Parts: sequence; structure tokens; C-alpha cells
Amino acid sequence: MASGSLVRVARFPALARLLRTAGGTALRAGRRAVRAGRRVLRWLDPAQASSDELLSWPLEADFLEVIEEGLRRCDHGPSDRYYVAKELLLSLGRLDADTAECGVYRGLGSYVLCRYAARMPRCERFQHHGFDSFEGLSDPGTHDAPDRPGVRAWTKGDMAAPLDLVRATLADFPWVVLHAGWIPACFEGASDRRFAFVHVDVDLYEPTREALDFFHPRLLPGGIVLFDDYGFLTCPGARRAVDEFLGATGERLVRLPTGQAYFTRSR
Ligand SMILES: C[S@@+](CC[C@H](N)C(=O)[O-])C[C@H]1O[C@@H](n2cnc3c(N)ncnc32)[C@H](O)[C@@H]1O
Repeated sequence: MASGSLVRVARFPALARLLRTAGGTALRAGRRAVRAGRRVLRWLDPAQASSDELLSWPLEADFLEVIEEGLRRCDHGPSDRYYVAKELLLSLGRLDADTAECGVYRGLGSYVLCRYAARMPRCERFQHHGFDSFEGLSDPGTHDAPDRPGVRAWTKGDMAAPLDLVRATLADFPWVVLHAGWIPACFEGASDRRFAFVHVDVDLYEPTREALDFFHPRLLPGGIVLFDDYGFLTCPGARRAVDEFLGATGERLVRLPTGQAYFTRSR
């Protein structure tokens, strides 16, 4: 999650929980009301509809069910980026190796990935790995300081999440392996695995660089690495780590208007 969040409030867990629940419910009700209002306006004057209002993906019942259930379990997350993640995963057609999420937080990204991976041919042969300290971000370094005035800097411990909550969120998927610990030490338990799809979402330079060092040699040709943070002003270090990696390997990045970016392993 790259956008600024209520991380200061997160130091008061009860208050954070209350705000998250109330905020999430209000946001979803608000979005539904806005969508209904827009439908009325479009009906009155179809020429006034903006292209955003005519998008079909936010109306896809199947995805809405997945995201609503994920939000109910761990109430966190913007749905457009998860839509991109599931589409890229499904674009592989079938699974030929494991999937992974590096930076799990409350588990919504892994929940969405597992719901869709479960529908893919050969999925029963593979694992999904979640890597996280569950103590929040590591110490941001010099590359992580935002260079735009008004953009808040991350601090160590932001986005800590209880491991039990994540276990409960992902309880339907027995093929999930959670590796709790700091990156790169927590990668050790998966050093003999190969990967077809990896979601990298750790916001900072060091763990993004370590993730690329670890996953790229273990990625199948044609496998995908999706970065959540590349296009966010809050995450200059994550972008830098990706750019250095591209410079060293010649892999080609596709940048998306959601702030995400991905590459497909070329060889
Ligand atoms: C933005 S959140 C991940 C959100 C999640 N991918 C989702 O879609 O819900 C970033 C996560 O990265 C983890 N993290 C950041 N730096 C880390 C490090 N050096 N080692 C382990 N975990 C780290 C944090 O604990 C946090 O849970």
C-alpha cells in the first residue's frame, strides 16, 4: 500500500480498528451512493458520462464478491490495484510454479491472489508464500525520503499487522505458507522454490532491492513480478530499486496509471 494512510493512528490499535471499520463501511456505502447517483445522471443525460463512470470492471459481480469478502475479513485496500493483480495472475493461463507476496500487511492482496489462483489449472501442485515482518516497515533509508514538499515520509513500524489476523484471513487456503521475519532473512525458507507470479509491496528501497535479488533468478521465464509502489510519490526508494534492477538486467517495465508497474521475465 503506497498511498499515505492512517499510520500514526495505527499506533493506537483499538482506535485504528474502529476507524478502519467505520471508515471502510462509510466508504463503501458512499461509493455505492455515488454510483447510484451517477447512474441516474447518465440516464437523464447519457452524453455527460465521463469515461471513468463507464468503466465496467467496478461492476463485475465476481470481483466485487471477492473484494468485499476480503475487506470483510481484514478491511483494508483499494480495489483497482487488486483488480490489476488478479488480471495479471490470470493472464498466465495456468500455474507452473508458486505465487508470492512480499509485504502482506493485513492479507488482502494474498487473499485476492489465492482466490483467483485456486481457479487456475495445476494450482493444487503449488504454494503461495507471504513474506512479512508483521512488525511493519523496516527502517527507511536515505533513498526513501520523499522529495516533494507535503509528502509524508514512512517511519519504521508503519503498517504493522497481527499475524493471527492474516492467518484467519487466509485460512481457506491450506497451500499458503507465511514467512514471518525481516527481508531478506525470511526468504530463506523458500530458497528452493520457483515462482510464476510475485507481488512486491514493501514501499522501501532495501526490501524491494532484496526481493528482486531473490525472486528474479527463481522466476520462470514468462513469470510476472508486479510492483505496487512504483508510481507513488511516497515510495521513491521502491522505484529506485526497480530502476536499478532494470538497468542491470535489461528487463522491460510496464507502468500503469494505478501507480503499479510490472515486468515479465524475458529469459
Ligand atoms: C503496504 S503493506 C503490504 C500491503 C499488502 N500487499 C496488501 O495488498 O494488502 C507493506 C508491508 O511490507 C512489510 N515490510 C516492509 N518492509 C519490510 C521488511 N524489511 N521486512 C519484512 N516486511 C517488510 C510491512 O510489514 C507491511 O506489512
